[in-house]
Amino acid sequence: MTKTFLPKLVTLIAGLVLSVAAIASEGSATQQSGTDLGDRVSLQRGAQLYMNYCSGCHSLKYLRYSRIGEDLGLSEDEVMNNLNLTGAKFGETIQTAMPADHAQQWFGQTPPDLSVISRVRGSNWIYTYLKSFYLDESRPLGWNNQLFPNASMPNPLWQMQGLQRAEYGKADATGERPVEKLVMAQAGTLEAEQFNQVARDITAFLEYAGEPAVLKREAMGVWVILFLAFFTFLAWLLKTEYWKDVH
Ligand code: HEC
Repeated sequence: MTKTFLPKLVTLIAGLVLSVAAIASEGSATQQSGTDLGDRVSLQRGAQLYMNYCSGCHSLKYLRYSRIGEDLGLSEDEVMNNLNLTGAKFGETIQTAMPADHAQQWFGQTPPDLSVISRVRGSNWIYTYLKSFYLDESRPLGWNNQLFPNASMPNPLWQMQGLQRAEYGKADATGERPVEKLVMAQAGTLEAEQFNQVARDITAFLEYAGEPAVLKREAMGVWVILFLAFFTFLAWLLKTEYWKDVH
């Protein structure tokens, strides 16, 4: 038994070390999103920003308008007037108005559905991605992204953020000059901190969209704990009652 146990243990430890290293290296490339799903106003702003700046290209095909209303505390009128830009029905899911073949032609790719993107990429990645666009004349649409090199998405938030340019480091072995940092070339309509909040709100909304049940589950968690505590107390009363006569 020990013969197979040891190699298994070694593989397990190696695996743990590798995954910790992977998490650490991801952490250094991305910034902390600072999202708070308990902050309903942030989620409401995020939903509005998403509909205005992202939904033209990206669908959320598992999320219904009605569900957003219910979860974020918005009335049917509020959802239909402010969030629904496509004329879909209240009970329908969020589709984009853009035909897929046009998208393919314009961007070289169809913009992916973002329903589960927060689970695939994580919220720090999304937050950092939204802040990492820079001007790059060598790209078809004039945009590049430091976190996701050669992404075919143009920066949808540039008016608020402003225009960033890259400062390049020394050429590496392949002759490519890596992007060292991004500098603001032209200010946007928002201050840096305000823009961070915009990116944070959108990220929070996508985090919620990835698992809408999370809001309800967290609210329910408190009741579950209270119930368990109460039940433990009952069990204890019962036990003292049973053991009373045993000496
Ligand atoms: C003009 C169309 C367009 C708009 C508007 C747009 N995107 Fe995109 N987006 C794309 C395309 C095209 C891609 C695919 C990029 C690639 O894979 O090269 C993409 C990719 C992404 C990805 C990466 C998906 C992956 O592969 O991991 C994320 C995240 C994303 N978009 C979020 C957003 C958010 C958030 C907004 C709104 C603030 C937004 N996008 C607005 C076109 C758009």
